[in-house]
Amino acid sequence: MPVGAFFSEILLNGEQMDKIIIEGGRSLKGEVKISGSKNAALPILVSSLLADGWNTYNNVPDLKDIQSIKLLLTGLGARIEEDGSSVRIDAGGLCNPEAPYELVRKMRASILVLGPLVARLKKARVSLPGGCSIGARPINLHLKGLARLGASIELKHGYVEAFADRLTGNEIYFDIITVTGTENLMMAAVLADGITVLRNAACEPEVVALADVLIKMGADIQGAGTSVITIKGVPSLHPASISIIPDRIETGTFMVAAALTGGDIKLLNCEPDHMQTIIHKLRLTNADIKVNNKNIHIIGSNEISSIDIKTMPYPGFPTDMQAQFMVLMSIAKGLSIISETIFENRFIHVSELKRMGADITISGNAAMVKGVPLLSGAPVIASDLRASASLILAGLVARGKTEVNRVYHLDRGYEAIEKKFVKIGAAIKRVRE
Ligand code: EPZ
Repeated sequence: MPVGAFFSEILLNGEQMDKIIIEGGRSLKGEVKISGSKNAALPILVSSLLADGWNTYNNVPDLKDIQSIKLLLTGLGARIEEDGSSVRIDAGGLCNPEAPYELVRKMRASILVLGPLVARLKKARVSLPGGCSIGARPINLHLKGLARLGASIELKHGYVEAFADRLTGNEIYFDIITVTGTENLMMAAVLADGITVLRNAACEPEVVALADVLIKMGADIQGAGTSVITIKGVPSLHPASISIIPDRIETGTFMVAAALTGGDIKLLNCEPDHMQTIIHKLRLTNADIKVNNKNIHIIGSNEISSIDIKTMPYPGFPTDMQAQFMVLMSIAKGLSIISETIFENRFIHVSELKRMGADITISGNAAMVKGVPLLSGAPVIASDLRASASLILAGLVARGKTEVNRVYHLDRGYEAIEKKFVKIGAAIKRVRE
């Protein structure tokens, strides 16, 4: 990489260029405590904008993306106090309707403030998030939905400018199932006049978790977790105290680590109900999985079977687990077809896995993964959050040393992941450049 580009990378991301070094080949054993869900915490922290007074959130994960959203909320006028994994937010002083480019470009989920800002301040100026490495990720459905509630929307100089004296309930149909689109419009509708019906809504557990919080704040929401969500506007909401649900993708990532390394791992504080498809698919690969209450016990097999997966909206196989599962299939016995139907460019990890010896051929939105006896360690570069996780997993099972560069991607969505892996016997360490 030319020196100029290298330094612009640091300037652009303002992040330490840490790397993680792994000595592969160890079988992982022990217990892992699962953290709160990033994708539930983000919209839930934003929902604090909808009420005056102190909201209390427990089990909030310590992640770069959570730092980013707290910075953004503070910039909008909210007060934030934190004590470990508990965060308190009071939006009584909400006054600034603008989410600046500097923050939104680093974390596209910032777009979630759009609905609440229009609902509370009657206006919002939010930077367009732009694309990211896994796809163009437009927000047209967020904007179309907000317009259906009566907001006037303009796109100017890379920003969305939205205004509405009063939002009015309406029917909104999502052409494509969108998680944050569903969340954004749900938050916009809770204070609107009249009834809003979201059709073809996302059913993810994180959407249900947000609805549960809004209901605790006094909102009237029916149908969260199904494709039709009905929201009856109320005059105002009051603060609430809640605990963030466990992160199902972190849980799945550690389950794949056990399956990959013939390990024996107990996952604590997780939510097996949110993991049904992942559990089902891992059992088909010969992993032995026992579930009891909030814990999952997984024992990896020495003979991993190849199976096909197709990413789908919840309750289908999650796109956020596709890269991790591909690593498992790369050392399985046989051929696996992995189809990515959610994002148009979510195979970036394939080229790095091939450098470690994986036998993968891409054809359109499908990757054909032919299992090989083993992977070999190599220096690799992370490109996005879940691709980074897949490279860590590959390093755990590869023979020799793997060096994963640009792990700032990883820190966005995994809390102290290398420390959790050390606890279960991995030879892994972080090196600060
Ligand atoms: C959420 O992103 C998650 N992020 C993503 O997790 C996850 O991969 C994704 O849902 C799918 O499950 C958060 O919850 C913060 P979408 P989101 O809107 O809401 C298209 C991770 O690794 N679309 O459900 O941005 C879009 O291009 C992240 O934790 C439109 O066309 O995803 C995509 O093809 C990565 N127009 C599809 O819908 C829109 O207005 C699904 O996207 C919105 C979306």
